Amino acid sequence: MNTLAFDVYGTLINTYGMVDLLQRYIGEDKAVPFATLWRDKQLEYSFRRSMMNRYEPFYTCTGNALDYCIEAFDVSITTDQHFSLIKRYQNLPVFKDVVQALKTLSARDDLQLFALTNGPLEDVEKLFEDDQINQYFKEIISADEIKKFKPDPAIYEHFLKRAGAKAEDSWLISGNGFDVMGAGNCGMNSVWIKRDLKQQLDSWGVQPTFSIHSLSELNALI
Ligand code: 2OP
Repeated sequence: MNTLAFDVYGTLINTYGMVDLLQRYIGEDKAVPFATLWRDKQLEYSFRRSMMNRYEPFYTCTGNALDYCIEAFDVSITTDQHFSLIKRYQNLPVFKDVVQALKTLSARDDLQLFALTNGPLEDVEKLFEDDQINQYFKEIISADEIKKFKPDPAIYEHFLKRAGAKAEDSWLISGNGFDVMGAGNCGMNSVWIKRDLKQQLDSWGVQPTFSIHSLSELNALI
């Protein structure tokens, strides 16, 4: 039995799914750079909070990062628009390749599928229900359970314990380079989903077990 741990934001869920709102609120030219900084800051805040032992749920990192970006881009966002952006974050869409890949993988009896995420359980459950993918997972395992964010080794170790799996039989599937490297650091196999050809992995001399461009390639690999 192989155990698959799917990262959520940036792997199953498209964190650029609010760009249409940003285009309306702050203009076409600023929308994508704003969304990119928002995501980068959200992750940076989660890493810093983990290191400082100042854990707050992932949505706090998301909200704080949004406020940082509003100042950094010097744009005016009304209270209603702010509310809509946060609301959209709770309802982001899945990438196009996700549903079919999960359907195929979950039908196999030699695999068990989990989600392993920095997001709190309630947020991710809601996302999965809205996007109709909750039935493909045995369980969602959240950083919230131990108040440490990925890529802290504690969360991958916690995952293995919770899933009752050995590192060598487990695969972290992620579009996030830091996550792939974090799982490898704990002895897990990893698959990097490099949907965007321009995406780079940090040059630390560490490689994922496999690197693919779409989740649809995963079934043939494992
Ligand atoms: C997640 O879902 C880090 O965004 C990533 O855990």
